[in-house]
Amino acid sequence: MGRRIRMHANPFSVRVLLGQLDRQAVFGREGPLEVEIGAGAGHFLWDRALAHPELDFVGLEIREQLVEARMKRADRPPNLVFYMANANTNLALAPYGLIQRFHVHFPDPCFRKKHHKRRTVQPVTVRAMTQVLPIGGQIYAQSDVRLLAEEMYRFFAADGALVSKLGEDMQVPRPFPQSTDWERQHEREGAPIYRMLFEKVREPEGPIPQLELSAVVRHEDEVRAASGAPEGDEPEDEGDAKPGE
Ligand SMILES: C[S@@+](CC[C@H](N)C(=O)[O-])C[C@H]1O[C@@H](n2cnc3c(N)ncnc32)[C@H](O)[C@@H]1O
Repeated sequence: MGRRIRMHANPFSVRVLLGQLDRQAVFGREGPLEVEIGAGAGHFLWDRALAHPELDFVGLEIREQLVEARMKRADRPPNLVFYMANANTNLALAPYGLIQRFHVHFPDPCFRKKHHKRRTVQPVTVRAMTQVLPIGGQIYAQSDVRLLAEEMYRFFAADGALVSKLGEDMQVPRPFPQSTDWERQHEREGAPIYRMLFEKVREPEGPIPQLELSAVVRHEDEVRAASGAPEGDEPEDEGDAKPGE
């Protein structure tokens, strides 16, 4: 398997503050929402929007060209919108109880220590999600990087408001029929995918857990280290893009 190229994108350079969306203006109604953090090329939400006309869908993505490409398509479902924004600071898009599910699929691992703070799943973003989800609301997340998936699982579990609905080993079939671009590519390559689905069972209480962001390594590096093979070149970039995107 070739090394995947991840391109740099600094979320801190994107200063858009969306606040609460005017859902009447955007969707022509004020119904329940699903929100995807780091929607990439947007196929997952696109398919979900077609399958669920009763819900509205918002994709947040820091790479403007991906958002533009989706937003200018004439066949975009009326219940789907994408915004260029740093998701970490834009999760309160609707009043309490209206966002029924957050999605975080294959978030950038931000391998370098100085970039850990860019990760989209951190105790502070988990709390931002649990503050707006209703009881019964969910967070569905996936990663191909085992150590990152374990960190995400730990952060969700530590918030106190969520319980896991899938197995703790995370190597489980997808709980929804739609799949993301990265998910499809990993499946084609036979690479591991770690999935988690958490449900809100109580309101979050007390301070946000103070948990360290941990060092994570690529799956290929884990495999290589286990086999004792020498290390290859470290790619300069890390971030988010699929080859050919
Ligand atoms: C590895 S890609 C996964 C894309 C898509 N979720 C999928 O599974 O196909 C991660 C995406 O998250 C975006 N991203 C990274 N940090 C972000 C942030 N703070 N806010 C919004 N999008 C972000 C990247 O630009 C990239 O498109």
